[in-house]
Formats: sequence, structure tokens, C-alpha cells
Amino acid sequence: MRIGLAGVGRIGAGHAETLRGLGAVEEVVLADADPVRARRVADKLGVRAAGAVEDLFTAGLDALVVAAPTAAHAALVTRAVAADLPVFCEKPLAADLDGTVQLMAEIAGTGVPVQVGLQRRFDPGHIAAREAVRSGSLGWVHTVRSCTLDPAPPPAEYLPTSGGLFRDCSVHDFDAVRFVTGREVVRVTATGANRGDAFFAEAGDIDTGAALLTLDDGTIALVSAARYNAAGYDVRLEVLGSKDSVVAGLDDRTPVTPAGPGLRPAGPPHTGFLERFAEAYAAELRAFVEVAAGRADNPCPPGDCLEALYVAEAAEVSRAENRPVDIEEVRR
Ligand SMILES: NC(=O)c1ccc[n+]([C@@H]2O[C@H](COP(=O)([O-])OP(=O)(O)OC[C@H]3O[C@@H](n4cnc5c(N)ncnc54)[C@H](O)[C@@H]3O)[C@@H](O)[C@H]2O)c1
Repeated sequence: MRIGLAGVGRIGAGHAETLRGLGAVEEVVLADADPVRARRVADKLGVRAAGAVEDLFTAGLDALVVAAPTAAHAALVTRAVAADLPVFCEKPLAADLDGTVQLMAEIAGTGVPVQVGLQRRFDPGHIAAREAVRSGSLGWVHTVRSCTLDPAPPPAEYLPTSGGLFRDCSVHDFDAVRFVTGREVVRVTATGANRGDAFFAEAGDIDTGAALLTLDDGTIALVSAARYNAAGYDVRLEVLGSKDSVVAGLDDRTPVTPAGPGLRPAGPPHTGFLERFAEAYAAELRAFVEVAAGRADNPCPPGDCLEALYVAEAAEVSRAENRPVDIEEVRR
């Protein structure tokens, strides 16, 4: 299989390296809006660089990976689907809810697979938590707690186009709650705070947020996110049940210290998403190659991305208007 990749920034360069190492992939062709960057990454990895992003659609490739900035996703996915190229697109599919719904309408019925990069579905801990729920070993689940805590805030210029903390960051938790429990979210109550740099408030964003979700079987899920967690990059999901409880993301690198006596994680804390989810990023691309070859079902279709985005949208409305918001209210 010959795979193209658009966008070789933070996540794209890592994806390119993974693709290069897959046995089923014979050739990787990289492109970027900055052709010098594409060439530099290609040379480092020993793969080919296209002269322009446009060339990816005329190079006779078999599939495309989109790791360009969010604003470019919808156009690249539409082009790829029109060219009959199976696509892996980093989350989110489009810059906002309307753009996502519009893109999904455009590609509906084409039969060309579009897999979205919500990598927690490939994290061994999240998979094990899902299996524990399914097996019944936890009894009935009374509470789920999921967090995404960044060690340091992103640059100020990242915020205005990021979609805000819930859409940018917690969308992974919202997807993980659905993935692990197999339930749908029906209602969201959210709040946020700004106690860090002023540029968050100036961009209309928050640096810390929490969303209380009610699932369709009555389970309560708590999702929390923060941009100032200097202890390290902390992504954990706890499933607490009537018979037992499990935690995804509790390991020797979990960035927590016991306040009193207790077990201290042995290793250095997780530093960021690239390191924490390295295995999951590789697994989702291995899965994509199987999807693109027609040998596997799509593990993260656009509909799942949209459902997580509805939850994020409801959280934003809830925070802004200080009231509970039903998912049906934001559903298009
Ligand atoms: N799944 C995850 O955990 C995760 C983590 C980080 C980023 N992301 C997503 O990945 C995407 C990229 O994020 P990043 O942090 O790597 O960004 P980045 O800014 O580091 O890299 C983006 C690259 O795309 C290039 N580019 C710009 N416009 C382009 C276009 N039209 N076509 C091709 N290339 C173009 C830029 O020159 C740059 O090299 C974003 O949509 C982001 O939401 C997902």
C-alpha cells in the first residue's frame, strides 16, 4: 500500500515515522503547506516528499493520512473521498459542529472509509476498562471519572482557533466515556475557571474545566481538564462499579504523589500526549491500514467524532449559560 500524509507538524511527523515502519506500507509520501518542512522530515525518515499537498491527490496513492491543522481537515477529507482514497483524519474532522455535520453529509453514501484519530480507543488501559465493563466484572457502573491535564498551557496564538478547552481537549474524554461504557450521554452540566494566564479569558476560553455527564442508563461521569498541571501529563479514566473498580492510565509514570503514606510512582511523570499515547497512535494507524485495505471495520467512524463533539458543544453552552444542557438541544 502507498500512503500519503498531509501535514508533518507535531503529530504528523510521528505518524509518518509509524507509517514508514508498517510492513503493509510500501511507500509513504509526505506533503506540507511548507514544502521545506515536508522535505526535511522526509529526508530524516528516508521517505518521499511531494512538491505540494495537491500532488497527493494525483500520485496514484491508496490512502491518505490528514495531520494538517484543524482548519484544513474538511477540505482535505472531501478531496480524498472524491478521489476514492480512504482517509485517516486527526481529530476533529472539522473546525466546528456545523462544519462536521456538513462534511459528513458530503461524504455520506460514498463508501470511502474515513477514520478519525481518537486514539484513546487504542490505549491498552482504555480497552481493558471497556472489557471490564462489558464482562460485568465491575457490577453496575455508578461513576466514571476521566481527566486530561496538560503540564503547561499551549501558546496564546493556539487558543482562538482551538475551539476551547472542551472541544479541543475534553473531546477525547467524552469519546472515551462513550467508548468504555458503551452508553450515550444525554445531559451535561459544565463549569470553567481562569486562574492562569490572561490570554485564556481574552480568547473566550478557560484554563480549567469540568463537565458532569448523565449517561442514558443513569451512570454519572465526571470529566475534568486543566492546562496548568505541572506535575505532568495526566490522562486517567476510572470506572467505579458496584462490584469492582478499574483505572486506565494508572502506571509508574502517572504524575501524582501520595499526600501521605502510600505508593509513589517509580518512573518519571508522563510529559505529553506524544509520549503517553505513542503505542495508541501506532495502533490506530495499523488499524487504518487494515481499514484502507478493506480487511477491517472502521474503529472510529465520523459518527463517533460527531457524538463526542455534541457533548463538547453542550458543555460549552452549559458553561456559558450556567445551566444543564440536554444533548438533544445541540444535536443537528
Ligand atoms: N489525537 C491527538 O491526540 C492530537 C494531538 C495533537 C494534535 N492533534 C490534531 O492534529 C492536527 C495537527 O496538530 P499539530 O499539533 O501536529 O499541528 P502543527 O501545527 O504542529 O502541524 C501542522 C502542520 O501542517 C502544516 N499545514 C498547514 N496547512 C496545511 C495544509 N493545508 N495541508 C497540509 N499541511 C498543512 C503546517 O505547516 C504544519 O507543518 C490538529 O488538527 C490537532 O487537533 C491531535
